[in-house]
Amino acid sequence: MHFLVLHGPNLNLLGKREPAVYGTLTLDEINGSVKRLADELGCDVDFLQSNAEGELIDAIQMAVGKYNGLVINPAAYTHTSVAIRDALAAVGLPFVEVHLSNIHRREKFRHKSLTASLAVGQISGFGCDSYLLGLRAIFNVTK
Ligand code: DQA
Repeated sequence: MHFLVLHGPNLNLLGKREPAVYGTLTLDEINGSVKRLADELGCDVDFLQSNAEGELIDAIQMAVGKYNGLVINPAAYTHTSVAIRDALAAVGLPFVEVHLSNIHRREKFRHKSLTASLAVGQISGFGCDSYLLGLRAIFNVTK
């Protein structure tokens, strides 16, 4: 099994970005934890972070035939991007949507996710563990 972990805009700044909200781990540290879990589960993972909507869409399109599913934190695009939603719908790959913070206890504009209704499920509010739970979830539903 092979999964793609996609990180949206500003997640490259993790560690120094609003640590009270997003924690102190860097993106590399989060990816390292995800990779260790993938090794434990016996699956492969690749990672991509982009601040550009089009690059995330290209990655989703190119995931077909290569990956069994996605773990995606679309970050701010969760709340705005019809184009990312459409890409996820077009490829039809199973995906789990993850968020470090609990988007439902934050500002109202973060309560709406354009992508969650296509997802197998959404995991929100557990920091780095959201990604680990997301990988376990996508692994279990696709095995
Ligand atoms: C986020 C939540 C989003 O609302 C925000 O725009 C992000 C990160 C999270 O992981 O908690 O950039 O997706």
